[in-house]
Amino acid sequence: MPIVPATPEAIAQAARALARGEIVAFPTETVYGLGANALDGAAVVKIFAAKKRPRFNPLIVHVPGPAEAETYAVFNETALKLAEAFWPGPLSLVLKQRAGCPIADLVTAGLDTIALRAPAHPVARAILAEVRLPIAAPSANRSGRVSPTTAAHVASELDDAPAMILDGGPCQLGIESTVVSLVGATPALLRLGATPRRDIEELLGHPLAVAKADSPIASPGQLATHYAPDTKLRLGATGVDPNEALLAFGKDVPEGARLTVNLSESGNLQEAAAKLFGALRTLDRSGASTIAVMPIPDHDLGEAINDRLRRAACGDTSRRASDQT
Ligand code: TXA
Ligand code: MG
Repeated sequence: MPIVPATPEAIAQAARALARGEIVAFPTETVYGLGANALDGAAVVKIFAAKKRPRFNPLIVHVPGPAEAETYAVFNETALKLAEAFWPGPLSLVLKQRAGCPIADLVTAGLDTIALRAPAHPVARAILAEVRLPIAAPSANRSGRVSPTTAAHVASELDDAPAMILDGGPCQLGIESTVVSLVGATPALLRLGATPRRDIEELLGHPLAVAKADSPIASPGQLATHYAPDTKLRLGATGVDPNEALLAFGKDVPEGARLTVNLSESGNLQEAAAKLFGALRTLDRSGASTIAVMPIPDHDLGEAINDRLRRAACGDTSRRASDQT
């Protein structure tokens, strides 16, 4: 598996591979993405094959900024305001497509909307600048698994499907972008993520609507078992059993677990988000019967962390086959 340090030469090579219709894994500030030219349906189909992902899931299109995004989607005042405040960064906006939008139907799953985001990671930005194409990129994991936050995670998930895995080190944020839909009457939160809900609501001056799980606009990322390790999770743990692995948070950690990973001894939610998926992978491999998870404060990034943990705890494997992203 070609894991390549993200040097300028490697970035240029990745851009050429993308332009030729190949798929490339690359770091973003949230998680590693598996990218393809969003204008080329034959390239995009390779993403679905590599992820073993159901075809009907729409993908996020990565662009350098609002100017490029506006060539594909209709920006209203709210969209511009959010893009100005949060781009480049971990916010994906779902907008109405422009008439004649050239993005492959497979990217938008045939919807008349499109999810767009301008990533902040220097490697992602360098690829976009070099390739000058919109890049569709879901998280670079097999469908239904936790998102990769290092190049090695990608390699372990996707075998040799990508032409290249650009290694830009561990992702700084570690949790996927927040997805907000601006298609309805009120901006709606489709997925909690690395841009805290409160920051968005403060800018808008009102609360976000929350999409109902069964509504047609709900993000497939909302599906209950989306982020799932194989080991069962036990949430809200204040004690631990010797057969259990422990996902700890803060200073007062119960002793006696088979293996403990502390997301943040100092109780820092940003640090915890960045470590979350890697910690779940490590604990999943420990052979423990259960992963006990200490309570994590449900504010700021804690809201998205708890969302991912609740989904990971929905351990109904029969539903994982229909998992999405
Ligand atoms: O942080 C991220 O967003 C990462 C990095 C690589 O950018 N990408 C990511 O993509 O998490 P993915 O495909 O795993 O998640 C895409 C999310 C899904 O929840 C999907 O349902 C939603 O975006 N989405 C995409 N297009 C949509 C649309 N037109 N309407 C509603 N939801 C949409
Ligand atoms: Mg995903």
